[in-house]
Amino acid sequence: MTGEVDHDEVVAVVRAGYDRIADGFLAAVQSRRAPDPRDEWVPKLLARLPERARILDAGCGAGVPTARDLVEGGHEVVGVDVSPRQIELARAHVPGATFMVGDLSRVELGTAAFDGIVALYSLTHVPRGEYPQLFARFTTALRPGGCFLGAVGRSDSDGFEERDFLGFVGTDGWTNSHDRDTMLAIVGAAGLTVVEHALVDEATPFGPERWLWILAVAGGPSA
Ligand SMILES: C[S@@+](CC[C@H](N)C(=O)[O-])C[C@H]1O[C@@H](n2cnc3c(N)ncnc32)[C@H](O)[C@@H]1O
Repeated sequence: MTGEVDHDEVVAVVRAGYDRIADGFLAAVQSRRAPDPRDEWVPKLLARLPERARILDAGCGAGVPTARDLVEGGHEVVGVDVSPRQIELARAHVPGATFMVGDLSRVELGTAAFDGIVALYSLTHVPRGEYPQLFARFTTALRPGGCFLGAVGRSDSDGFEERDFLGFVGTDGWTNSHDRDTMLAIVGAAGLTVVEHALVDEATPFGPERWLWILAVAGGPSA
């Protein structure tokens, strides 16, 4: 895939890639890593949400560990992922949540439908030209004072196909991202107030990576 980014082409590569690696990906992430930035950042989100909050897990994968932990915490979780195999695994592993196969750039998210939205390690696979519209839809989908938590890319990359994606031989992936300041500006322009952000170096099951974590509130930090 070269030149201008074609949404459907990207989605086709990403969906096929995650369908193919879903079982191996789940096996890799199933054992809890230490330290895991989720252990620090998810509580920051939950501290701003009501008990039994309704939370969208955007690009939920197999639902482990995030959707599973949220359900165990008494929250109502709706997970969306473009990979049918990921959703199949999520339904099997997190029966207390609702999951649907869907493309984040296209799926109906509703208005004031969620107290919280998490998007962890997923938005790098969505063409970055779609971020302004996507984050605007996140803002609309959140109740006033609702909260967004994301682990997003942090470097300026207009998209590249990855061979042997995440070390899975023969699998293609596709990734893009913005630098930190551009990303924060997009989130802010969409009507979310960033209350905390940090570049975090992580020891993932797939090797060392650096992600931009963002906590943002719909309607302002004290809304
Ligand atoms: C690295 S996995 C992360 C899964 C999970 N959030 C986690 O923290 O383990 C990225 C997920 O994003 C999903 N994804 C990528 N592009 C998507 C899109 N446009 N719409 C919905 N899901 C998407 C992939 O299918 C994949 O399951």
